[in-house]
Amino acid sequence: MCGIVGAVAQRDVSPVLLEGLKRLEYRGYDSAGLAVTNHDNQLQRIRVQGKVNELHKEHEASPLSGGTGIAHTRWATHGKPNVSNAHPHICRDQVALVHNGIIENHEQLREQQSASGFEFKSETDTEVVVNAVYEALQSNPDLLHAVFDTTKQLHGAYALGVINSADPERLIAAKNGSPLVIGIGIGEYFIASDVFALLPVTQQFIFLEDGDIADITRDKLTIYNSELEIVDRPLNVSELNADVADKAGYRHYMLKEIFSQPNAIAESLENRVIDGQVITNEFGQDADSIFSQVKSVKIAACGTSYHAGLIAAYWMEEIAKIPCHVEIASEYRYRKSVVTDDTLFVSISQSGETADTLAALQLAKQSGFLSTLAICNVGESSLTRESDLVFLTHAGPEIGVASTKAFTTQLVALFLMVIAIAKHNNLSTEDENTFVKQLESLPGRVNQLLHHKEEIETMAKDFADKHHALFLGRGSFLPIAMEGALKLKEISYIHAEAYAAGELKHGPLALVDDDMPVVAVAPNNNLLEKLKSNLQEVKARGGKLYLFADKESDVESTEGVYVINLNVVYDFMAPILHTIPLQLLAYYVAVIKGADIDQPRNLAKSVTVE
Ligand code: AGP
Repeated sequence: MCGIVGAVAQRDVSPVLLEGLKRLEYRGYDSAGLAVTNHDNQLQRIRVQGKVNELHKEHEASPLSGGTGIAHTRWATHGKPNVSNAHPHICRDQVALVHNGIIENHEQLREQQSASGFEFKSETDTEVVVNAVYEALQSNPDLLHAVFDTTKQLHGAYALGVINSADPERLIAAKNGSPLVIGIGIGEYFIASDVFALLPVTQQFIFLEDGDIADITRDKLTIYNSELEIVDRPLNVSELNADVADKAGYRHYMLKEIFSQPNAIAESLENRVIDGQVITNEFGQDADSIFSQVKSVKIAACGTSYHAGLIAAYWMEEIAKIPCHVEIASEYRYRKSVVTDDTLFVSISQSGETADTLAALQLAKQSGFLSTLAICNVGESSLTRESDLVFLTHAGPEIGVASTKAFTTQLVALFLMVIAIAKHNNLSTEDENTFVKQLESLPGRVNQLLHHKEEIETMAKDFADKHHALFLGRGSFLPIAMEGALKLKEISYIHAEAYAAGELKHGPLALVDDDMPVVAVAPNNNLLEKLKSNLQEVKARGGKLYLFADKESDVESTEGVYVINLNVVYDFMAPILHTIPLQLLAYYVAVIKGADIDQPRNLAKSVTVE
């Protein structure tokens, strides 16, 4: 999704802005630009369609220089990804603005502004905002008030950075629904969509809240709320350092992140399990009392995080014996559902900024749930700030758009949650100890699975010329098949669908022929024999099978059946373990196809618009 960087400093801010944009690339974008007020108090701007490297080249050819500037990576929503739609947008050579979010009433504002003589140079929803600021400046030349008045006209989500060549040492930032953080330097201030963008220049951050407007000069920061009252927002010191975002010798962030899973899981377990027991307080101080009242669980999330929720439902009902219902957040937020006051609402999100998940949480908070719990990888995110209970996965920053370590650590967090709730529903200490041991065995077992890398790389060659693939699983391995299909489609652009293996004969079997690879997850559990029968149905139709089987599943490669026997012994951790080969399969198929693995086309890391 769009990324914002801005700065007010004594030094030339262009290098800070360009570096910030580079560090926001992982969010996904298709054009980029920056604007700086130069030493003659004139706005200068460069914009490109494509990557930040292109912007660097343009900047090298005709450098901008000045102490106040804003920059942006745009993920197209309204209007094509081209130069005229790229931000910053400028009105009458005086006001420049960058925006993340969607202005829902842009058409109405566009009509009004056209009638008052504004000419539009882009197809974006953003241009009405810069025009509105300019218009407001005509009656009151104070930029803070102009931005404040403008925000009162806007419906929708926004994070804004605004500069004015007539007031050249000032930057106004505003937030409502889209993330925005202020970085505090020595005699300089910065704004950005996330802290990574600013780590080379500061470790100190203030997270703006919805409705906030910040008035920023080189030596002063004042934050106002939506009533234009001065407010204090807490200072956060980040423990991340600037090189968290390097590839550590791996070809892609995604591969680095796949291989860092043993460590990410170990970090996510540290201090959360002690002496065979789950430390419930890690979910929040009131967790014990809340968990003791839980009679059912509702989970809402998107994409990969939704798949994690689906697996948790199997665990919740089998281990804690508590009903658990999982919904896609974008559906849940618009559905009229029945809520009981003994139901815990759980949201899951890597970024904690996903607009649909946040909206689902906001709806849940008004709907009479017992309490809300967020499982998230980003501490100071909107989701964690708005939830009663929080469990942070300690996966470390995930840069690749395709979620890998965030998913497996979410599963760890969800398993801990299931045990913590089950303890109040007759889970014996002995069983708790067994489950904790299984969790503690995960880093080592994931590590062993990574050794299948070469075999999977060889298997991947069979997929490179395919246009479609089916993924099959049963029980808690169906969401794993769904996740495998999602990984393959998002980074290799091969159309992939997942089905419960038993559903095959109810429709999808019609698709099977010798050009349709069928990937199946075959754990050694009570459904193995049923799965084998389903696979026979594929084989009989000439379909080529690719099986990831447990050591003891007793399936061998034969004509048309390609088996990788994994070093997995079946237990509750098996869904987590079976995820790893599917991640590697998607990765190697995408490598062979030469795809842009870390930034797949059309996708964004943090989906902050609806
Ligand atoms: C996963 O590979 C995806 N890129 C995507 O489905 C992602 O999981 C989804 O957008 C939700 O993001 P979140 O976990 O940050 O809320």
